[in-house]
Amino acid sequence: MRIGRAMGWIGLTAALAAGCAGNGNGLDQNGNPIASSSSASSSSSSSIVTADFDSIQNNVFTAICTRCHIGAGAPEGLQLDAAHSYGLLVGVPSVEQPSVLRVKPGDPNNSYLIQKLEGAPTISGGQMPLGGPYLPQATIDAIAQWIIDGAAMSPEVMSQAMAQRSEQAPFEVVATAPADTAVATAPVRTIAVAFSQEVDASLVNSTTITLEAVTPEEVPTATQPPLPANTSLAAGNPATILIRPFVPLGPGTYRVTVRGTGGGAIESVSGVPLDSDYDFVFTVETPR
Ligand code: HEC
Repeated sequence: MRIGRAMGWIGLTAALAAGCAGNGNGLDQNGNPIASSSSASSSSSSSIVTADFDSIQNNVFTAICTRCHIGAGAPEGLQLDAAHSYGLLVGVPSVEQPSVLRVKPGDPNNSYLIQKLEGAPTISGGQMPLGGPYLPQATIDAIAQWIIDGAAMSPEVMSQAMAQRSEQAPFEVVATAPADTAVATAPVRTIAVAFSQEVDASLVNSTTITLEAVTPEEVPTATQPPLPANTSLAAGNPATILIRPFVPLGPGTYRVTVRGTGGGAIESVSGVPLDSDYDFVFTVETPR
């Protein structure tokens, strides 16, 4: 979409970034204050972010973004700590602009993460990190390169996952958006459920993933028909399930249940069962 414009803003923001180099005074290459560079996990004192997820997680998401993007109250449900970030970024639609994926593997220009970091004119809300200091262009370029390369998990995490897989390590839910007990703003168009391993796509359907409205009086769930929704795996990230209600969710309280027991229950691609049902509840409020 709009390739001409996208190229235009990349050129523009590159020029702006060059012009703003003075803002980096007292900051290292990753935009961290020089005095606190020890907070980055890298052993090098002036580490440059490299185009792999581990480096981006440690030097950018954990070091800079989790000041705000953490816990059930994380802005737009986007938790960026190491335990949650991957499954809520890759292949998951932006809340602010639902037609744009946060990270679209292979396509940084059409990844909302990059647009927000560069302050593209098309974004809603502010450039990230909100209020600055903004990331050096070299850091944004490294993140863009990671996306061009397919937005994989870091090799280390993947080999751990492979090792765990062979040991039949637990298959479990690691993150949801909205988070359990979170308050989101109407309309909620997409709900994300991220797992510790890739999900068997053939088991993702309306009998294993259900969304229902919860009444304050807790009417027995049997009397509540589930809300019609599409369920699918996120593009390029088969460890995250996306739930799209046919009608975007308005104000109210909702429950999502992932069925991990009984016939046809959710399993990983390698056949590890979820073993118990998992559910979470969130509230949707009218926009202020
Ligand atoms: C000072 C708090 C703060 C920091 C630090 C911060 N953010 Fe944000 N972020 C917000 C708020 C608030 C919003 C929603 C309003 C807006 O977009 O302006 C947001 C929205 C976003 C969105 C849009 C999510 C969506 O689904 O539409 C992305 C992507 C994002 N931030 C990424 C980042 C990244 C990456 C970093 C670190 C480099 C970061 N943010 C640092 C507060 C912050």
